[in-house]
Amino acid sequence: MEIILALLTLLTLIFLVILVGTKGNPLVLIYQFQSFTAQIVENKIQLLILSFLIILISLFVYFYYIMPNVDAGPIQPIAFSHRLHAGDKKIDCRFCHSYVDRSVHPGIPPVEKCLFCHNSIIPNHPEIRKEHHYFNTKTPTPWKKVFYVPEHVMFNHERHIKKEVQCETCHGDVKGTDRLKRHEFKMGFCIQCHKKEKANLDCWLSCHN
Ligand code: HEC
Ligand code: HEC
Ligand code: HEC
Ligand code: HEC
Repeated sequence: MEIILALLTLLTLIFLVILVGTKGNPLVLIYQFQSFTAQIVENKIQLLILSFLIILISLFVYFYYIMPNVDAGPIQPIAFSHRLHAGDKKIDCRFCHSYVDRSVHPGIPPVEKCLFCHNSIIPNHPEIRKEHHYFNTKTPTPWKKVFYVPEHVMFNHERHIKKEVQCETCHGDVKGTDRLKRHEFKMGFCIQCHKKEKANLDCWLSCHN
């Protein structure tokens, strides 16, 4: 989304520069361009350099702007980072996900919890203002869910956390991630550990409802 916006702005800027540069007659450019390409076709070295430059620029754009976004999770309504909060600032997972061992839906913390800190920490940061907006209009933050189990599976955290299975075992390196990636759990993953830990394997009774 941001990339498209940036490209559109760039194109508009280029268009405006052309319009000003040709004193409101952009057609002039087409004639100039034609003689320019004619020159290049005559002179193959220029053609080579030009195509090399184009390839270089495309590679740069791809590696610096597109690839990091392909690899990250969905863009969330507030640019929240687990790496910053749970990693750098060492805030306990349970402080925010308090119901994880008590409820089938551990859930995402409500903005009240964010504002507990952010009423005094960087209160005027644009992302924190969004929190105030959700709080003032009493709208639940539309966080996008990222961890899924297939629909017919019933998962409950409680038994796992009582047996001290670490969050990382299932959720990966949350502490080191800015934007969590979409992940669907496969049954093989559950079964493998249940076999190893001699936990219940009678899946029709326990996991599937
Ligand atoms: C044994 C694997 C396992 C462990 C350990 C585990 N989780 Fe999960 N977690 C899951 C699965 C599977 C889901 C998806 C459940 C669903 O969609 O119903 C999930 C979902 C969640 C969700 C989203 C729930 C929602 O309401 O949308 C949160 C938040 C979460 N886990 C936090 C934690 C935290 C914090 C810990 C450590 C204290 C933890 N989990 C440990 C497997 C695990
Ligand atoms: C226990 C305190 C605490 C809680 C709770 C907390 N934060 Fe933060 N947050 C921080 C600290 C500390 C910083 C770093 C401030 C700085 O950069 O000076 C921060 C920074 C941020 C930033 C700015 C990141 C950046 O790019 O600079 C955002 C956005 C943010 N938090 C969102 C949230 C959201 C959303 C919640 C609720 C789910 C939340 N925070 C809950 C302490 C907290
Ligand atoms: C400052 C509050 C805060 C802390 C601390 C925190 N989380 Fe979160 N967590 C959130 C928010 C907000 C979201 C929703 C946005 C997102 O997915 O990044 C979330 C989402 C998640 C999800 C994805 C749930 C889903 O399916 O959408 C998991 C899993 C999770 N957290 C696990 C953890 C683990 C494990 C830790 C500790 C290492 C932790 N969280 C620490 C606030 C927090
Ligand atoms: C890293 C190991 C591990 C993983 C991964 C894991 N589990 Fe478990 N599971 C356990 C342990 C240990 C218990 C606790 C058994 C006990 O309390 O004796 C358990 C218990 C359960 C129970 C309760 C069984 C009963 O006796 O009633 C269910 C249901 C369950 N797990 C479902 C799942 C599902 C679904 C997944 C995959 C999303 C999963 N588990 C992934 C280790 C794991």
